[in-house]
Amino acid sequence: MIIKFTLNNMKKNLDADPSEKLSDVLRDDFGLLSVNSCCNTGRCGGCTVLKDNLPVPACMVRMFSVRNSSILTYEYISTTTEFTSIIKVLEAMGCNFCDFCKHGKIITIYSLVQSGVQLTEKDVYEALSGNICNCTDFHSMAAGVRLIVNTIKRGKRAERR
Ligand code: FES
Ligand code: FES
Repeated sequence: MIIKFTLNNMKKNLDADPSEKLSDVLRDDFGLLSVNSCCNTGRCGGCTVLKDNLPVPACMVRMFSVRNSSILTYEYISTTTEFTSIIKVLEAMGCNFCDFCKHGKIITIYSLVQSGVQLTEKDVYEALSGNICNCTDFHSMAAGVRLIVNTIKRGKRAERR
């Protein structure tokens, strides 16, 4: 089945099995190895990508549902200016992520930043609840995420003046 979709802002027509997992296609057909294949059951968040700007575990997405949608992976997100701001603030807050969770967490944080809404600590907690990690100080991370969102919002307001 030919599946048309956008991958990292480029149009694709892929002949794929509609029941195949998006995570396998991204890794095997496109060499996007930032998409980790860990639990393969939707529980760890290691394979998180943005599907139509929402974070989803790619191992739970079948190719038939990718038709006409937009998929963004860490490879694309790491080229954005928001990414640079996210990394700077997280490093300043002492949040260093391991290779197991880093890509998925950054993608989720990027989507929060993109939403541009005022976030509470609970919002950040809920958004990141799909990205399993017991080793980062959550309060520092939540403070960092809220700081990034507010900094980027202030920057956009200043641009408009
Ligand atoms: S590999 Fe997809 S959520 Fe764990
Ligand atoms: S820092 Fe990666 S799992 Fe906790």
